[in-house]
Amino acid sequence: MELDETSLSATEIEALARRIDRPVVLVGMMGVGKSSVGRKLANLLHMPFVDADDEIERAAQMSIPEIFERFGEAHFRDGERRVIARLVDGERKIIATGGGAFVNPETRAMIVDRAIAVWLDSDVDTLLERVGRKDNRPLLKQGDPREILTRLRDERKVAYEQAPIHVFSTRGPHGRTIGKVLKGIEAWL
Ligand code: S3P
Repeated sequence: MELDETSLSATEIEALARRIDRPVVLVGMMGVGKSSVGRKLANLLHMPFVDADDEIERAAQMSIPEIFERFGEAHFRDGERRVIARLVDGERKIIATGGGAFVNPETRAMIVDRAIAVWLDSDVDTLLERVGRKDNRPLLKQGDPREILTRLRDERKVAYEQAPIHVFSTRGPHGRTIGKVLKGIEAWL
């Protein structure tokens, strides 16, 4: 995979991987690329990758749209908190969270306490382009996706800002973003 030329060498990535002693948790808006970036990051660092949304679906034996429809968002958030509590168990791994996870104060405190939180951020146009590829996000069905994404990004910014590492992801392939995440973790450690 192409990393940005300003990023770390293979040897530096290996050395960095050895220094990471707890889970790395990706937070940020839907569509920003937490799962794709997370999967590639896990590959590079030779760590397992876990998608919290997939774990919630597995635990509930139901899809996220079904959970929202049958039990509502509050129920989903509760399940999300419990699943993330189980995932941030001290084992080194890369975790992608759903966009609202870090907004919940309890979930956020747990992540900040027990993991390395990285906020992946991007502008609304990029989010809009990327969410268009999937049709499984109940919150985007409640109106105009651009308006919803703009509002949620504004409302959630104060929460996301509490992640110690902030990486801006621009359009195009994720190589550059991954390079920035690695550098961000290195600087934070
Ligand atoms: C949500 C984001 C989704 C999923 C659920 C709610 C949100 O995850 O958890 O639809 O509140 O932003 P992604 O960020 O992976 O799309």
